[in-house]
Amino acid sequence: MSPSVQTIRWGIISTGGISTAFSRDLLVNPATRDANDIEHRITAIGSRTKESAQAFLDKLNDLPQDEACRWGVDHGKLKDCKAYGSYQEVYDDPNVDCLYIGTPHNFHYENTKGGLQGGKHVLCEKPFTFDLKELDELIALAKEKKRFLMEAVWTRFQPIAYEVQQIVHSGKLGKVKRFSADFSTDMKPDNFPLSHRIIAPELAGGGILDLGPYPSVWTMMVLYHHPDNKKTPPKLLQSRQTLYHRTNVDEQTTLTLGFEALNVEADLRTSFTCQGLAGNCVAVQCEEGDLIIDFPPYKPTTYHVVPHADVGKIKEAKTYHAKTHPGGAMHYEADEVARCVRDGKLESERMPWEESRIVQSWFDDVRRAGNTVLKDRHGKAG
Ligand SMILES: NC(=O)c1ccc[n+]([C@@H]2O[C@H](COP(=O)([O-])OP(=O)(O)OC[C@H]3O[C@@H](n4cnc5c(N)ncnc54)[C@H](OP(=O)(O)O)[C@@H]3O)[C@@H](O)[C@H]2O)c1
Repeated sequence: MSPSVQTIRWGIISTGGISTAFSRDLLVNPATRDANDIEHRITAIGSRTKESAQAFLDKLNDLPQDEACRWGVDHGKLKDCKAYGSYQEVYDDPNVDCLYIGTPHNFHYENTKGGLQGGKHVLCEKPFTFDLKELDELIALAKEKKRFLMEAVWTRFQPIAYEVQQIVHSGKLGKVKRFSADFSTDMKPDNFPLSHRIIAPELAGGGILDLGPYPSVWTMMVLYHHPDNKKTPPKLLQSRQTLYHRTNVDEQTTLTLGFEALNVEADLRTSFTCQGLAGNCVAVQCEEGDLIIDFPPYKPTTYHVVPHADVGKIKEAKTYHAKTHPGGAMHYEADEVARCVRDGKLESERMPWEESRIVQSWFDDVRRAGNTVLKDRHGKAG
């Protein structure tokens, strides 16, 4: 291995669904996506029980031979990995450079804080925190400790995100006139126990915090980053939340954001009881045609450019399939962390703190304007 390769030793905080997906992607050979400057190792797993940490590690060690992530097991990327029965032991482990936080939303603040205080860099799952106050505390702590900190909005780093931005921002379709983005999925929550994190108020349940980051990421990438917007934050024009009957968290949320510099309104929607349209989860409607992205908004691979009849240079509708690589697509954000750490950065230019702050602030405003059980709740920093 060349000496210029940046190795990141990851500590995984919690052993649930997303920690599994992320850890598997860390074990995919970076060369399969041309990331020849990066090496990921997993050196610690932290769980509330040692048994669960050990079972998680055993499962990784036992990955099937025919899966791309098996490569890391066979090439020593899990070698000497420790399984701890607490998160604190991972924060304290000198063989860990960076934490990946995969706990329920309401724990992101304390886990990230613990990691930064332990001198670790941190990649924290979305939503970054429960509210803006918590996020601002963490940003201040990252600056004080001089540690890298990023919200794990993986969609930003997928090849399709760059392709869609390039098309819309090039002006090929003319000015943007209207925008909508939706992440709705019927989770059949009536089958969940009341303790399930999607519906439990004590785990910051509800659709806006869990699903909202995805319509938001497309809004930020397409509209906020539009050259004519000059990075002007949008205004929340209206919002509405309906209640999930068993626990009074938000079941469906709709909000409208106004991008004044573009003269564009963005409609965002989330629902955990209604399936989103398969053929349209993001629609960017422009003067000369539309760009439509197929479901799911967190990892889409197909989009369509549909010109309006008799206007503009594009004459025919075309469907595009974005580039993909082996693995589940969470490795792109891990590569970004490794490169930022290598370059001594505290934040990512592609996923900067200010943009997490903007999205977090509209989640706060929507919650306060609504009538869910979380309406007046503050995070731990409040
Ligand atoms: N990027 C994405 O696409 C994506 C997808 C899904 C979820 N997420 C985010 O990832 C986070 C976790 O979601 P998940 O679906 O992975 O959840 P999950 O499967 O329920 O796992 C959460 C883990 O957190 C730990 N935990 C600590 N305190 C807990 C408590 N009081 N109750 C339940 N679990 C607790 C548990 O691990 P231990 O027992 O090992 O401590 C648990 O396995 C959420 O913030 C979510 O928004 C992101």
